[in-house]
Amino acid sequence: MSDSSAPQKKERFAPKQLVNLAPPKDDVITRDYLAKCDGTNGGFPTLVAIKGDVFDVSGKDTYAPGKNYHVFTGKEPNRALGLSSLEPKDCISDYSGLAEDKLQVLNDWHTFFSKRYNIVGRLQSENNASL
Ligand code: HEM
Repeated sequence: MSDSSAPQKKERFAPKQLVNLAPPKDDVITRDYLAKCDGTNGGFPTLVAIKGDVFDVSGKDTYAPGKNYHVFTGKEPNRALGLSSLEPKDCISDYSGLAEDKLQVLNDWHTFFSKRYNIVGRLQSENNASL
């Protein structure tokens, strides 16, 4: 007998409302392009990169200019996410030296974003400026 009354196990960080996500893209997105995508340039999407994946957060109000999480846009704020910091100086790709628990926080944010926002590309690596 099937147990249809059993509560479904809640997936970690799943959004309350179902989000229809497109398949992740792996086109390379340059750091110059990413920097333009902070919501202040008409015609460009609003992007946040985490651990190389570039998420499209266009249309989500909390990332708009003047809003709480605007500081993350057009950047790859790995360190800030790991440290639970909103300081612009922490909104950088380099997360070397973070303790294990902070690395887990960063990974949790990656999971959170990947359940809500489309991945529109992979960020150009920091040491390959010619890409
Ligand atoms: C007093 C401190 C804070 C409060 C009260 C707070 C509150 C909230 C609330 C209510 C949301 C859900 C908002 C929404 O769905 O629009 C949220 C989301 C979020 N918070 Fe905070 N937060 C705080 C600090 C921080 C800090 C320090 C960080 C730095 C990592 C942070 C990063 C985020 C991020 C990335 C989201 C996800 C936004 C999304 O895409 O839905 N928050 N916060």
